[in-house]
Amino acid sequence: MSYLVMARKHRPRTFDEVVGQPHIIKTIKNALTKGRFAHAYIFYGPRGVGKTTTARILARALNCVNGPTVDPCGECPSCKEILSGTAMDVLEIDAASNRGIDEIRNLRENVRFSPTHGKFRVYIIDEIHMLTPQAFNALLKTLEEPPPHAVFIGATTEIEQVPRTVLSRVQRFNFRLVPRSEIADYLKVIADREKVEINEEALDILADRANGSLRDGLGLLDQLAAFCEGAINAEEVRSALGVIDSDLYFHTTEAVTGGNSADIFQLVRDLSSVGTDPSEFMRGFAEHFRQMLLVKSAGTAELIEGTSQYRERMIDHAAEFTEMDIVRLMKLAYDSVRELKQSQTPTLGLELRLLQMLKLHDTPDLKRLLAQLDGGPPPEKQPSPRSKSGFSESDGGNKKKSTDLFKDTRPVKSDIKSEPVEPEDDTDDDDESMDLSLEPDSDSVEQTEEKPVYGLDRIKGKWSNVCEALKKHNNHLGFFLMDTSPAKMKGNNLEIECQNEFQMNRLSSNRMKVADAFKEALNMNVVVRFILGEPKPRASNDNNTMRGRKEFLQELVKKDPLLKELIKRFQAEPI
Ligand SMILES: Nc1ncnc2c1ncn2[C@@H]1O[C@H](COP(=O)(O)OP(=O)(O)OP(=O)(O)O)[C@@H](O)[C@H]1O
Ligand SMILES: [Mg+2]
Ligand SMILES: [Zn+2]
Repeated sequence: MSYLVMARKHRPRTFDEVVGQPHIIKTIKNALTKGRFAHAYIFYGPRGVGKTTTARILARALNCVNGPTVDPCGECPSCKEILSGTAMDVLEIDAASNRGIDEIRNLRENVRFSPTHGKFRVYIIDEIHMLTPQAFNALLKTLEEPPPHAVFIGATTEIEQVPRTVLSRVQRFNFRLVPRSEIADYLKVIADREKVEINEEALDILADRANGSLRDGLGLLDQLAAFCEGAINAEEVRSALGVIDSDLYFHTTEAVTGGNSADIFQLVRDLSSVGTDPSEFMRGFAEHFRQMLLVKSAGTAELIEGTSQYRERMIDHAAEFTEMDIVRLMKLAYDSVRELKQSQTPTLGLELRLLQMLKLHDTPDLKRLLAQLDGGPPPEKQPSPRSKSGFSESDGGNKKKSTDLFKDTRPVKSDIKSEPVEPEDDTDDDDESMDLSLEPDSDSVEQTEEKPVYGLDRIKGKWSNVCEALKKHNNHLGFFLMDTSPAKMKGNNLEIECQNEFQMNRLSSNRMKVADAFKEALNMNVVVRFILGEPKPRASNDNNTMRGRKEFLQELVKKDPLLKELIKRFQAEPI
């Protein structure tokens, strides 16, 4: 069996057999039914997704004895000739091979003659973007006044190289990459026809590798049918195609969250003993986290493809992390791909990167650290249901080492006062709130019995809660609010600084919603007003800016040997 055989042998013969392009098939069928089909088309899209196939079916649909019909019979002389490639009325021109000059000249000469058997003369111009400017010009003249019996179908993967003058005279169809699940289903149909036994997991891997192209999918199936004796299973597909098992990625994720460096060393040893390419491994690992992020953000596995077991496992794993955790891991994996590719010692590099991921997990929660440095009691441990892994600020689960470290050391006095930082229940993002409790509470207002009244600094400290509350009702507005900073509080009037006008206008026209978010998050009635601040004025105080944070941290380090040691050991950085 050769590559071409399966793809050619199973080229769809009817519109209904074309997979993954329903939008196109429906439009063409409608046009045929109504007799209102165009005389010039461009089929544009990636390789191996059905452009030439659809063009040939359309040619038969037009020229079948029953034509124009949505269901060419496949039996009449016209259909048969077209199927065997001998039809006089259907001319296929490959613009890639000789750039079409002679063909287009011929085309112009014989397009006027009536069709021999069929009703139409159909010209299929493959790789139409390769035509020379002269050939395009010649074609254009014909397209301007085509005889009623002429139909042109151009196919291309590079539409931007087709002159506008041509594009404006044709009807354009955009073919799309075929979704993975549809490729898997189609390969199953073909495998059954070919009596090739292959299980679901193996089909999934093939479909994944096909990258949206059915031709590639069929080619791979061909290759495996030749490679395997008997039934094809996932293991064989992986070894034949050098695919890294998704199991391995789950396993690696567990090693990274498990907190044990020895597991990482063992894992890397195992990987290199089977000849895994470190950069390829990391590329797959980044993709693994991307899938996890899709699951996490959507709250379901519907957006990802794969076997049901795979999806269930992904849901389980995603539940262990916050979105921020996943983004961090994905970034680490992604950033290392190129580095590992160019590295002289990629295995060592892989080890290092995985250890770094593990250390990310071990890194102490800076907010807690700062609270303690300030003399506050260590905040209560509250395992977060959303982050059992201990990657983020929640300290449930296995952050043993770092919390022990805190316990043993008593806080060192700093002259900057702050409120003890309360543990946050389920906040994903620590960035916004980590620095906010560090300022003296200069503006605070007396507390009343019924409602807690917040001063400016407390509001800053709870800013992320307000943003989260707003996000629940309006995600966009919540994100906008995150980028602003509370600037002034007088009575219950709060002035909030925005970074740009757009942001300010959006928020201003939703003032009530923002006020509601305050009520919800802090049980506080405020009248909010949005003003335009300096460029990037996160807050008036220096320690709210990145540089400020860095300097602030350096200040603290100078005063505090413990903090210095922690920073050294965990490579802490202000974020
Ligand atoms: N949408 C599809 N449905 C079913 N089979 C398809 C589809 N697309 C491609 N195939 C299979 O792949 C083979 C090649 O498809 P086709 O020649 O139509 O691709 P193409 O889009 O014209 O690609 P290229 O840009 O490389 O010319 C077909 O013979 C068929 O077996
Ligand atoms: Mg083609
Ligand atoms: Zn027919």
